[in-house]
Amino acid sequence: MTVLEVRGVRKRFGDHDVLQGVDLELDAHEVVVLIGASGSGKSTLLRTINLLERVDDGQILLGGDDITDPGVDADRVRARIGVVFQHFNLFPHLRIIDNVTLAARRVHGMPKDTAHARGLELLGSLGLGAKALDYPDRLSGGQQQRVAIVRAIMTDPELLLLDEITSALDPQLIGEVLDLVRQLKSTGSTILMATHEMSFAREVADRVVFMQGGRIVESGPPEQLFDAPVEPATAEFLARVRHH
Ligand SMILES: Nc1ncnc2c1ncn2[C@@H]1O[C@H](COP(=O)(O)OP(=O)(O)OP(=O)(O)O)[C@@H](O)[C@H]1O
Ligand SMILES: [Mg+2]
Repeated sequence: MTVLEVRGVRKRFGDHDVLQGVDLELDAHEVVVLIGASGSGKSTLLRTINLLERVDDGQILLGGDDITDPGVDADRVRARIGVVFQHFNLFPHLRIIDNVTLAARRVHGMPKDTAHARGLELLGSLGLGAKALDYPDRLSGGQQQRVAIVRAIMTDPELLLLDEITSALDPQLIGEVLDLVRQLKSTGSTILMATHEMSFAREVADRVVFMQGGRIVESGPPEQLFDAPVEPATAEFLARVRHH
């Protein structure tokens, strides 16, 4: 089953063509990782899928529905997608359990008791049960980012978009976030993520997509893309990031 279909998507900011005709499909339970230099359009692509940016041309289908149709209710589309960005934006004045359940209750109308029980269960299964009643400032960055992921999966979204979820973290905290993504993969989530962590992309991706200048240059299974890239631009990019 196809969860996401991006067809010929174009996006321009001023006179800058940031997405120049992107085609991408994700099947159910697939984990696809976007790589590419800063400015190549990874975040913009994720933002068009979450309808934070309107496409200038092309279409995006979620579960077969054209979500780029002008008549679509953006909030209802966003309610079907779980999103985690680089800067975990937990509400500082709310306890962890309330951070996790707020959107499920307000946006999805999940009853308070149901949301509370599900939140505690998820936090518990992800090693955060003891933190449920704490405020965010009592948690490490890695723990906060895991809470943001729990919040995003509270309502079993059809698709999870993860944008550089480890890039604001100290190296020693990255591992616990990556473990959680592995766990989500093993439970069958459909995930599209952007990352600069090549080792993680290799480990977790079913397919890696290399973007440059708003285009998909090459995509394939991690072994192929990392070890035997077909396009010279992919090889050049990989050589550059490996020297860092
Ligand atoms: N709202 C905006 N207005 C104008 N230009 C924008 C806007 N958002 C993004 N851009 C430009 O679009 C290009 C692509 O940005 P984008 O954030 O998608 O890149 P990225 O691949 O996610 O980079 P990074 O790896 O640094 O996160 C950049 O040149 C950026 O400056
Ligand atoms: Mg980005």
